[in-house]
Amino acid sequence: MPLFDDMLSSEESLFRNEQALDFAFQPKPMKFREEQQRYMANCIKPLFHERNGKNLFIYGIPGIGKTLACSQLIDELEESSEDVVPLYINCWHKNTSFKVYLELCALLGYRMTQNKKGDELVEVIKDILNKKSAVFVFDEIDKMEDFDFLYALLEGVYRKSIFLITNYKDWLNGLEERVRSRLMIDQLEFKPYNSKETEGILRQRIGFAFVPGVLDDSAFSLILNKTVEMEDIRAGLNLLRESGLNAENRSSKKILLEDTQAALKKLDEYNLEGSDKLEGDPKFILNLIKKNSGIKMKSLYKIYQEKGGGMAYRSFFRKVNKLAEDKFVSLEKKTGGLEGTTTIVTYSNVKKLSEF
Ligand SMILES: Nc1ncnc2c1ncn2[C@@H]1O[C@H](COP(=O)(O)OP(=O)(O)OP(=O)(O)O)[C@@H](O)[C@H]1O
Ligand SMILES: [Mg+2]
Repeated sequence: MPLFDDMLSSEESLFRNEQALDFAFQPKPMKFREEQQRYMANCIKPLFHERNGKNLFIYGIPGIGKTLACSQLIDELEESSEDVVPLYINCWHKNTSFKVYLELCALLGYRMTQNKKGDELVEVIKDILNKKSAVFVFDEIDKMEDFDFLYALLEGVYRKSIFLITNYKDWLNGLEERVRSRLMIDQLEFKPYNSKETEGILRQRIGFAFVPGVLDDSAFSLILNKTVEMEDIRAGLNLLRESGLNAENRSSKKILLEDTQAALKKLDEYNLEGSDKLEGDPKFILNLIKKNSGIKMKSLYKIYQEKGGGMAYRSFFRKVNKLAEDKFVSLEKKTGGLEGTTTIVTYSNVKKLSEF
């Protein structure tokens, strides 16, 4: 009896290149962002003629190709010119001006940074860059704690384009005036992909990642529909990988609907513990955030107290941060204005993957 005909032998795999499903993988060519990339390229163009470039504010929801579009532009720039220097910094990791200066020095190959102050590092950066032109990309700019670096670069580097990337359309409004007025910044929105585009992107990845023909149509439609609904390519990449691993665990030569259904369930448990499971204080706070989404942390605390909440501000703050870590809410820091730094708390309307 051919009991094991449909089974993979131990050396076989459904994956041709599993890394193609990593978020950091760089698929080439990048599809469906030509228009945005052209816009970015036009901002940089004057730099090739020794004129000043334009600055650009890029915004859009998570997982729709903002970082990828910029990093591919940077790759091209690196290949095509010695005189225009691209400098990419993720502000999640480098969230103060001093850290930005150190990183810029590292990117520019300057190593003698020890014991130097911020101002001295700025001088070094200016010295190097003012012989050329520079394109700065500050990704996740909303994670930055201060903006002295922007002021310093705007004032000190003559020929440059500065790109700022964030999820928050309104972020610029909170930026201190002395910086904003110098930026004279254009705005570029990245809109979510429609279903045809999402399909094209996922199919391209499937081509890189899997052995041809292993993904069943019904499994693919489920992955596609879910990705379109969530408007986040990362959801699709996750589901593709997990579905493949599930099929391999069954030693199946095909990825079937059941593998994707199991992947949806797993992702759900992983992504959110499920707000139904929340009890006590976190649940109480989450309900307040739901009703007052987009509110300042301090105003939220006031409401919490008015409704009878007894926690001290610090513990309250920690609880809200935990809710953010678990993706029930999102937090956005705003600097400037009369109150200094404020945090805006927004309810995350993340749908559960298995609700589909
Ligand atoms: N047009 C595309 N073609 C191929 N892959 C894409 C495309 N757009 C997005 N992706 C993939 O989706 C994932 C998320 O994209 P990216 O990191 O650029 O999102 P983002 O808009 O910067 O999101 P966030 O705001 O969360 O940083 C990446 O793995 C990326 O490779
Ligand atoms: Mg990004």
